[in-house]
Amino acid sequence: MLRPPHTSYDQLHVYYLDRRDLPAVDDPALIGIWIEDETAILFFHQERGELVSRICQQCGARIIYQASLEYRDWEAGVQVTSFTTAALSVRPVWEAAGTAPAGLVEIVLDPSVIFGSGFHATTRLCLETLESLLLEEGRQIRSVLDLGTGTGLLAIAAARLGAERVLALDNNPLAVEVARKNVALNDCGDRVRVEQADLLDNGLPATGGYDLVIANLYKGLLTQLFANEVFWQGQMYLVSGFLPGMEAELLSALPAGSIRMLYRGRREQWRLWLLRKET
Ligand SMILES: C[S@@+](CC[C@H](N)C(=O)[O-])C[C@H]1O[C@@H](n2cnc3c(N)ncnc32)[C@H](O)[C@@H]1O
Repeated sequence: MLRPPHTSYDQLHVYYLDRRDLPAVDDPALIGIWIEDETAILFFHQERGELVSRICQQCGARIIYQASLEYRDWEAGVQVTSFTTAALSVRPVWEAAGTAPAGLVEIVLDPSVIFGSGFHATTRLCLETLESLLLEEGRQIRSVLDLGTGTGLLAIAAARLGAERVLALDNNPLAVEVARKNVALNDCGDRVRVEQADLLDNGLPATGGYDLVIANLYKGLLTQLFANEVFWQGQMYLVSGFLPGMEAELLSALPAGSIRMLYRGRREQWRLWLLRKET
C-alpha cells in the first residue's frame, strides 16, 4: 500500500522467501507482504536486498527468487489510471480528485499489488453488471457478499451504489489490508466489512441473508463452491473468472433444476454469468 513519502507505484522490487513467519518489517519502502501457503513475497518500492538478507538471517529464511519490474508489467502491461462506467468514476489515489464527470459516483482506490484495479476484463464485467443490477428500477439489492474481494472495488461499488450491508472476504491477508484501506478511503466502513477467510477451508459464510453473492474467482474454486449447498442459499449470483472452454464443466456443476441463468456477459475472452436461485 502507499505510505508517505510514496504517492504512486513505479518500480516493484520483489523478494520471494521460503518462510511465512517473518519478523516485523518496518521500512517506508515496503508495499506489503503477500503470504502464500508457507512462503512470503515481499514487495518494496525500492531495492532492499540488504534488509531482506538481514531478515533471512534472523529467521532462517531463504530467498527463492527476486526480481525488479515495472508496476505496469505487474498489472499485465496496463497503465492503471482513472476510468468510468455508466454510473461510476474510479480513480487511483495518485490522480487528483475532482476530475470525475458530473453525475457519476466517485471511487478512489489504492490498487497496491492486489487483483482488482478495475482493468482486468472480469472485474470490469462484474462492475458493469453490478451497477446495472443496483440501479435497475424496482430491483432491491440491500445485502451483498463479495467472495474473493481483492482490492475491495466491487464491494465498495455495491455500497456506493446503494447496498446497505456488504461482507467482503479474501484469503490473502494483504488483500484484506488493502481492501480495508480502500473501504476507509471511500468512507463506507459503516456498510462494508472486510474479513480474512479461506473459502476452501470452512471460510464460506452462510449466504442465506444475501440478495447478491459476487464470486469473481477461478474455475477450480467455483466448481467446489457450486457443489456446496451452503453457497446456494443466496438470491442472485454474479459469477466470473472463467473462459468459454470452461463453461460446459461449470454448467454441469450447477445444482440441477434450481438455478436460472439471467444473463451471460463477455469481455475479451472472459465470461460472466448472472444466476438466480429459484425457490
Ligand atoms: C480474480 S480475483 C478477484 C478480485 C476482485 N473481486 C475483482 O473482481 O477484481 C480473486 C480473488 O479471490 C481471492 N481468493 C482466491 N482463492 C481464495 C480462497 N480460497 N478463499 C478466499 N479468497 C480467495 C484472491 O486472493 C483474489 O483476491
